Parts: sequence; structure tokens; C-alpha cells
Amino acid sequence: MSRILVTGGLGYIGSHTVVELMQQGHNVVIVDNLSNSTIEVLEGIEAITNTKPCFENLDCNDYVGMERLFNSYPDIDAVIHFAASKAVGESVEKPLLYYRNNIGSLVVLLELMNAHGVHNIVFSSSCTVYGQPDEKHLPVDENAPIQKALSPYGNTKQVNEQILRDTAHANKSLNVVLLRYFNPIGAHPTALIGELPNGIPNNLLPYVTQTAAGVRNELKIFGDDYNTPDGSCIRDYIYVVDLAKAHVKALQRMLHGECDEQVEVYNLGTGHGVSVFEIVNTFKEVTGVNLPYVVVGRREGDIEQVWADATKANAKLNWKADTPLADVLKSAWEWEKKLRNIAE
Ligand code: NAD
Ligand code: WQD
Repeated sequence: MSRILVTGGLGYIGSHTVVELMQQGHNVVIVDNLSNSTIEVLEGIEAITNTKPCFENLDCNDYVGMERLFNSYPDIDAVIHFAASKAVGESVEKPLLYYRNNIGSLVVLLELMNAHGVHNIVFSSSCTVYGQPDEKHLPVDENAPIQKALSPYGNTKQVNEQILRDTAHANKSLNVVLLRYFNPIGAHPTALIGELPNGIPNNLLPYVTQTAAGVRNELKIFGDDYNTPDGSCIRDYIYVVDLAKAHVKALQRMLHGECDEQVEVYNLGTGHGVSVFEIVNTFKEVTGVNLPYVVVGRREGDIEQVWADATKANAKLNWKADTPLADVLKSAWEWEKKLRNIAE
């Protein structure tokens, strides 16, 4: 059975992917420096899978530490690289932290993969590389133009994709799958793992659930004057467990030598655009919980609307993000209630 190195494996998407990998019989070793997660996530993974995965508390930028890891696990067949800093606003204030962390960790990883004969990597990219697609490019497919990044964070994703392409060009034995995520939301159906709040949430869903739990007074909706049906922004909200399953599919495609190209790219979304007001109204319907909100001005840097054309991933990965939005929002609420010890 294969051994998969999962960097950032105690994070939101990484932890859900580790669960799916383990449930498909893969051996996993997690590297995480706990900069945006806690060791309790490992307990959550164990509670779901009845197995505690190998875990190394390491910084992916630590060449010596990571080399020791590759020496300790000579049977690594593939890497899924989630580890990164991901807060768009923070990246504007601290660009060097983002370039060091997000670019540096990938370079260290690729150097050590090459030195240790590890030939497969799945990389966490983002729809943010597309910026605001033109009308004619919506829904956005993998051939849509990459536009100038609007933040250092977005730029690190574009640069990392180029680093992977250049490295694959120089090393024909390297296989790369770039997974461009849209907007992951929700939590595991057991409510044993989910998105961990780190300060005031930037993202919509954690802010919604914290408002519903009374942690926040009210949700601020950033603008209702966009050129969309109800005036609020549109996104492609994908269930994190569906997203995790796509990683397993991509990995198995790689390990079975089924890739058509040395570097493959997939948009991972539902293929449906959903507005902020639709999220708010659906959340209130499915939970029956009050959700006070106020419409305020637009948030700087927000794009108006983007959603995926996921037909390539549906076909090539034999995968579809089809969990109903109501169930996804319910999972997010169950997780929030668990975090806050809110009874039914
Ligand atoms: P997350 O912050 O929950 O998980 C990232 C994990 O990586 C955390 O556990 C953190 O402690 C760890 N980490 C960060 N830097 C590290 C380092 N140098 N060494 C070791 N561990 C390190 O984030 P997430 O939402 O799970 O995102 C995972 C990946 O997916 C990231 O690369 C992110 O850019 C990408 N992504 C996320 C979203 C989203 O909306 N969540 C969308 C598109 C792409
Ligand atoms: C979604 C919509 C907001 C919060 C970000 C990153 C992107 C990726 C996913 C990493 C927008 C509105 C939000 C709130 C609101 N992350 N909103 N009130 O901006 O699409 O993408 O996360 O790769 O790189 O940019 O997601 O959840 O922040 O916002 O009205 O309190 O919800 O204006 O329209 P976004 P988001």
C-alpha cells in the first residue's frame, strides 16, 4: 500500500483529505508546524479512522528537518502539499512572510523529492489565479487566462504553479497535478474535524456560523450592488469532503500512471455559482437559527463572480462535488455547535 506525505495535513482541507486517504487504505505521514492548526486535529482524525497517522511537527522550510523526514520514511510514493499561509489580507500586510513560507516550502520539498526519488506531487492551488474572469470565461475552465494576482498570496499560487511546471520540464520523471480549489466550506459529517477559527474569520462561512452561535454580533455582507441577480457576489462553494475525495482520485490516477500529461490541472468546484444572500438564506432555512446581518460597502479586492466549469475533473477524475448545499451548511453548523459546546 502507498505511503503519502501530506504537508499541512492538520489544516482544514489537509485533515479532511488525510481521513479520506486513510479510509482508502493509504499510509499517511503528516507534516505540520501547527502555525494554523492544533494537535487536537490529530485526535479528531484518529477518532474518525480508528488509526493515528504518523505525524511530524516540522516546518516545511526546515531543509535539515525535512531531509531527516525523507530519510525516516524512504517509502514515500507521493506528496500532497497543502502547507501554506492563506490569508489574502495578511499577505498584503506581510508579503515576505508569504513568499518565504509559500515559495520556500515548495522549493525545499521539490529539492528533497528529487534527492529521494519521489516523483509525484499534488499541489493546492486556487481559483484565485484566474482573478475576475471575463464574462465569456464564466464558468471558468482550466484554459481561462491567468490574470495578474491581486495579492501576494494569489501571486504565490501563480509562482508555485510555474515552479512546478519548470521543475517538471527539467525533470521528466516528475508528475504534477495542480488542483485549483474554489471556495471550500463545511465540516466532516462526524463533526470531529472542521475549519478551525483563527481570530476573526475572513471567510464567509466561519463568520456565518460564528454569528449564528452568538460569537459575532452580526454578519456584514460586503456589498449588494454588484451586477449579479441579487446584487451580492457569486462564488462556487464546494464541500470540503468532496474536495478531499478529489485529492484521493488525483493521487490514484498518478500512482496508477494514468495521467495524460506530466503536469495536469483541474478546477475543483461544483460548477454552480451561489450568492452571499443565497448562502445566508439557505443557512437560516436549514438550521432554523437567527442570523443577524447588515449590508455594508464592498470589500476591497473582492471579485464579483466566479464559479467553476468542473467538467474536466468530473470526467478525468471520475469525481463530482454533488453534496447538496443544505447538507454542507448543516455540517458547518454542527461543527460550530461542537466547537462552542452548544446543545442541539
Ligand atoms: P489551513 O491553514 O487550514 O491549513 C494549512 C496547514 O498548513 C495548517 O495546518 C498550518 O499549520 C500548516 N502550515 C502552514 N505553513 C507550514 C509550514 N511552513 N510547514 C508546515 N506546516 C505548515 O489552510 P487550508 O484552508 O486547509 O488550505 C490548505 C491549502 O489549500 C493551502 O495551500 C491554501 O492556500 C489552499 N487553498 C485554500 C482555500 C480555502 O479557501 N481554504 C482555497 C484555495 C486554496
Ligand atoms: C466569499 C464572499 C465576500 C466574509 C477567499 C480567498 C481565496 C480563497 C478562498 C485561499 C465574498 C463575502 C465574506 C464576510 C461577506 N482562499 N463575505 N462577509 O474572497 O471568495 O476567497 O477564500 O485560496 O484566495 O480570496 O472567500 O469567504 O472571503 O468571501 O460578505 O464576513 O462572501 O465579499 O463575496 P473569497 P470569502
